[in-house]
Amino acid sequence: MKVLTILCQKGGVGKTTFVVNLGKLLSHKGHKTLLIDTDPQGNVSTYLNFDKNSKEALNTTDLFENRLDKEIMKVSESLYLIPSNKSITKHSNEKIIGGSKLMKHKNFFREKGFDLILIDTPPTISSLTQESLTISDYYLIPSKPEFLAVEGVSQAMDFAKETINNVIKADPIFLGVVLNQVDTRRSSFQSFENELRFLLADKLFNSKISQLTEIADSPFYAKTVLDFNENSKAKLEFIELSEEIFEKVGL
Ligand SMILES: Nc1ncnc2c1ncn2[C@@H]1O[C@H](COP(=O)(O)OP(=O)(O)O)[C@@H](O)[C@H]1O
Ligand SMILES: [Mg+2]
Repeated sequence: MKVLTILCQKGGVGKTTFVVNLGKLLSHKGHKTLLIDTDPQGNVSTYLNFDKNSKEALNTTDLFENRLDKEIMKVSESLYLIPSNKSITKHSNEKIIGGSKLMKHKNFFREKGFDLILIDTPPTISSLTQESLTISDYYLIPSKPEFLAVEGVSQAMDFAKETINNVIKADPIFLGVVLNQVDTRRSSFQSFENELRFLLADKLFNSKISQLTEIADSPFYAKTVLDFNENSKAKLEFIELSEEIFEKVGL
């Protein structure tokens, strides 16, 4: 079982889009995949047209409060979801002193036979993200290709490193930064990419995801790249990204 957290304290960079689309693609390949949403906004549920307030579904607040008797909901073949809603907010600023709350459940997930867990995190500096890191083998940071985003990326990297050094015993590996919402026609793009490549070296993914209307519209239609046709740019780019992740993670 491999656990991957997608994080960045900036909103709108593509965390939820990545979790949902990668989850769909990887589960479609036959990997039993679990999505855990730790963002109080619960956007993963919205993307997947799932009721984040469902009383039957085991949700993230249940995990934090040790109630494991509800069902982990199946959203499609080999894809499962632990949704989140605003009730998780009360756990968003807790010191991880007595040990991580999520870490306690790692065996529970193992017993359920998941091959892969993808964790979505809030667009804030939050102990929910720190909790997510405690259970993770890897983490990944999406970023928009903009000048100010360099700051966002380095803040996210610092936050993860400080968490790993000071707060938790776990030692997740930094997989790297993935550029999202790329518009190569913008003249600044190449210089921005070069700057990030210089800073990050092999921690900048070769795959990138373009700024595409079909991705922007997909939550509205509760669609994912899996629903797009074979030649869709969004689908091909996400397949390439999932393969690059696979290579790094060794699934
Ligand atoms: N590659 C893309 N092209 C077009 N729109 C995108 C792309 N990636 C994300 N979006 C849109 O940008 C918004 C923010 O993405 P989201 O994944 O919710 O970010 P985050 O979870 O980091 O806040 C959403 O409306 C989403 O549909
Ligand atoms: Mg989000």
